[in-house]
Amino acid sequence: MRIIIEDDYTKLSLTAAQIIQKQLLKKPDSVLGLATGSSPLGMYKNLIAMYKKGLISFKNVHSINLDEYIGLSENHPQSYHYFMAKKLFDHIDIDKKNTHIPNGLSCNLAEEMMAYEALIDRLGGQDIQILGIGENGHIGFNEPANKLELFTHVENLAESTIKANSRFFDKIDDVPKSAISMGIGSIFKAKHIVLIASGIKKAPIMKEFFDSTVSSLLPASFLKLHKNVTLIMDKESANLIEEIKNY
Ligand code: GLP
Repeated sequence: MRIIIEDDYTKLSLTAAQIIQKQLLKKPDSVLGLATGSSPLGMYKNLIAMYKKGLISFKNVHSINLDEYIGLSENHPQSYHYFMAKKLFDHIDIDKKNTHIPNGLSCNLAEEMMAYEALIDRLGGQDIQILGIGENGHIGFNEPANKLELFTHVENLAESTIKANSRFFDKIDDVPKSAISMGIGSIFKAKHIVLIASGIKKAPIMKEFFDSTVSSLLPASFLKLHKNVTLIMDKESANLIEEIKNY
């Protein structure tokens, strides 16, 4: 695992965007695995700025998102469809036909899960998969549990996740209780995984991440088994970790 510690969120966001920039210059038709949440927001802003300056193009890019809430329409301001449109897709030259997000309104979720996983395979896997990390160690919506699902599946959200994500909703009861999410195996189809952790709220889980072996109770710990992971943290999220030099 390659570890980069940046002074703050601004620098972290630029570094993450530069990794994508490099990828797009190397392979303009890259498959980007994208994430929602506040962690990648700064990276998306940088990517939009790079696009506007003519430094990168998304014309031939395919994107595939990690997850979507079940039961929210694409136009719901808290749906991940809406998030991706407003925070990235509406501002760049990506062909919307080439953007993929699980359909949380599908009346046949079993079929949706299989079709989404088949899509990842058909695209040849993600060239880069961007990840944030939940305060409980989830990646995508793979919550801590005794068993983790391998591929795209329906996940019941942990109480702590519902609570953490309620900051985006009017009231906690409005937060969906389940989501459709890539599994750990779907994430592992990526050739390169970039995990972004930022802010003081992530410091306890990042310390646990460093201290733990691989455990389904800390889903992000599985990333230690992938051969090409870049972890980008800001100083705040890294501030409880005494020893990082062995990683
Ligand atoms: C959400 C998303 C994750 C995200 C995580 C952290 O529940 N499903 O993909 O990484 O929470 O969010 P944030 O970046 O806002 O801290």
